[in-house]
Amino acid sequence: MYVKKVAVVGAGTMGADIAYNFAMANIPVVLRDVDSKILSKAQEHIWDLIQGRVAKGRLGSADAEKRFGQIQFSTQDDDLRDTSLAIEAVPESLQLKQQVFRELDRLLPPLAILASNTSALSISEMANATTRPERVAGMHFFYPAHTMKLVEIISGDETDQEVVTTLVRLSEELRKIPVVVQECPGFVVNRILMASLAEALRFKSEKHLNPQDIDAVVSGRKLAPMGLFTLVDALGLDIAWDVAQILKRAYGDRFDPGTELGELVRQHHLGVKTGQGFYSYQSASQVKPPGPVSMSAEQQEELIDRFTLSLFMEASRLVEEGRASERSVDIAMRAGAGLPMGPFAAADKIGLDVVYNKLKEMSHRFGERFTPPSSLAQMVGRGQLGEKTGRGYFYYKKI
Ligand SMILES: NC(=O)c1ccc[n+]([C@@H]2O[C@H](COP(=O)([O-])OP(=O)(O)OC[C@H]3O[C@@H](n4cnc5c(N)ncnc54)[C@H](O)[C@@H]3O)[C@@H](O)[C@H]2O)c1
Repeated sequence: MYVKKVAVVGAGTMGADIAYNFAMANIPVVLRDVDSKILSKAQEHIWDLIQGRVAKGRLGSADAEKRFGQIQFSTQDDDLRDTSLAIEAVPESLQLKQQVFRELDRLLPPLAILASNTSALSISEMANATTRPERVAGMHFFYPAHTMKLVEIISGDETDQEVVTTLVRLSEELRKIPVVVQECPGFVVNRILMASLAEALRFKSEKHLNPQDIDAVVSGRKLAPMGLFTLVDALGLDIAWDVAQILKRAYGDRFDPGTELGELVRQHHLGVKTGQGFYSYQSASQVKPPGPVSMSAEQQEELIDRFTLSLFMEASRLVEEGRASERSVDIAMRAGAGLPMGPFAAADKIGLDVVYNKLKEMSHRFGERFTPPSSLAQMVGRGQLGEKTGRGYFYYKKI
């Protein structure tokens, strides 16, 4: 479907950046909020982003005016009537989102697509609030959405393939990297990342370690772009806790974050935004770099195995459930979580026989959350061992 004009509903942190992306792609957009003060803030924020491009010489000033002019800032429902896609970015409450979807369903033309930027709620439950569940999908941008490239396109129980195709094409027009996923709690990035965060929290409490100890290894060995606890402090411990509860309910105890995270949330230590989380912050913008590595070599190796293989295990479950392909998962984890390699490419590099044997040993020590996936066992059985044999999850041609 050709998308002529877009509505973004909710002009907060995410909505303003999403509208900016459309304006930069020269696609007309109505940015709607119930609060006119928030709209003024969004207007200023978007203008600053555009002027930032001008200052860097990436945009002429006439063009800047034109892009900014693509956005209509509005508090009126009526301004949404001629849009062919609406993306809601209102606060994370199913009840509120269902109410917004009912309203959009009433206002927008019958074939218009209704999309949600939700991080963790069910697309199908939102779709059920409308008379057009087949035109409803997830379009999950990552924070900060003006720079982050990944967009997860989530297909609900009833979503038309044509809707998915339209959203993929549109994301590419925004110069983003779309990855399609069949709905499941946490989608791709949050699901896989939260599995490894829960593992790191278990490791931390078993060994009585500090967050610095773990972050020093995770960032020092370049397993992730920043320390895990630094990341959670930046994200907000309350948000991490809510997502962990949703995922634990959906998938079981491997997502159990333990007691420490909940305890910090109860004490209102929510991370950077309250000045105290796993770390303390003198000023809101100060994020401490992790200190030197203080763990024994043996502990470090155990942490690395448990972190990387919990990523790999959750990624494998997702693929075996048919939610996404190995390629999509790897792209998503690089573009959305900043991992240097996707979990499948990393396994191919290590050697699938090595990964298989390690998982077998770890499943004896830590339980079934590390039981090697059957797809891995089959590949090892066929001699497809990754890069060294030219074939694993992916092909490696030697030229
Ligand atoms: N902030 C993040 O890091 C992040 C990342 C990815 C996805 N998300 C998801 O994006 C969504 C929005 O998050 P946010 O951080 O931008 O929230 P936010 O609180 O910054 O903004 C929400 C905006 O929605 C407005 N709003 C409330 N009810 C409305 C209504 N009925 N109609 C129009 N506007 C309404 C509010 O006035 C507010 O400006 C949530 O679902 C969140 O889970 C957030």
